[in-house]
Amino acid sequence: MIRRCLFPAAGYGTRFLPATKAMPKEMLPILTKPLIQYGVEEAIEAGCDVMAVVTGRGKRAIEDHFDISYELEHQIKGTSKEHYLTEIRSVIDKCTFSYTRQIEMKGLGHAILSGELLIGNEPFCVILADDLCDHRDGAGVLSQMTELYNKYKCCIVAVEEIEIENSNKYGIIAGDLIEDGVLRVHNMVEKPDPKDAPTNLAIIGRYILTPEIFDVIRETKPGKGGEIQITDALLAMAKEGKVIAYKFKGKRFDCGSVEGFVEATNYFFDKEKDNLEA
Ligand code: G1P
Repeated sequence: MIRRCLFPAAGYGTRFLPATKAMPKEMLPILTKPLIQYGVEEAIEAGCDVMAVVTGRGKRAIEDHFDISYELEHQIKGTSKEHYLTEIRSVIDKCTFSYTRQIEMKGLGHAILSGELLIGNEPFCVILADDLCDHRDGAGVLSQMTELYNKYKCCIVAVEEIEIENSNKYGIIAGDLIEDGVLRVHNMVEKPDPKDAPTNLAIIGRYILTPEIFDVIRETKPGKGGEIQITDALLAMAKEGKVIAYKFKGKRFDCGSVEGFVEATNYFFDKEKDNLEA
């Protein structure tokens, strides 16, 4: 059973300036719920009860969100508004949160390595909260992946097919099909130009990693953009047959872009409108 889920959440969210000037991008809401809470709920559904968040300067609102707000609780106790806090209270009851800061922005691989002490020597999940996933009536993407982990016991990246002209926004994988929707990865490239992309299978922000990854990241040299890339570390493991890619079931929204954010808002509004109050 995988208990821990890591949330790299130190990035600046420049594409959402000025909204993200004083507010973490992970706190941007889709309807009334911040992006990171969707991620935490997905992790809980997958069986995780320890959330390890790698934050940075200016991210305190995340810690406050997953805490009791006594003043607010006191104000609305016994009123018709109390139910607004039911969902977040249940999240807080079901898991514990631990935090560490990534002092310098040296890439996603470096962010994950910064979380090593919060994870320890166990397999763990990683969620990039700006990739918002939903599987309308079925198991969440992370649940699908933890189930697969029980079978393969190796690193797993979630992938989806993209338009090849967008290959320079993603880690791209190539591999051999080993069962329906599952590939044994033999190549991975971080954000290649379309002409250099080995396939159109892009990694999205869901990973399951074995603790061996920490030593591998330590050995990984800066890659694309001068940053320590998780894609490069995973390539080293893939060469030993230790990485699989999973074509998940469900929908994924790139909420790191304004277009994806608006699309997600419309999708969740349509899904939840009967539960929202006028
Ligand atoms: C990161 C990873 C990339 C992956 C993407 C998924 O990039 O480096 O391999 O495809 O997340 O969202 P970022 O979007 O942080 O630039």
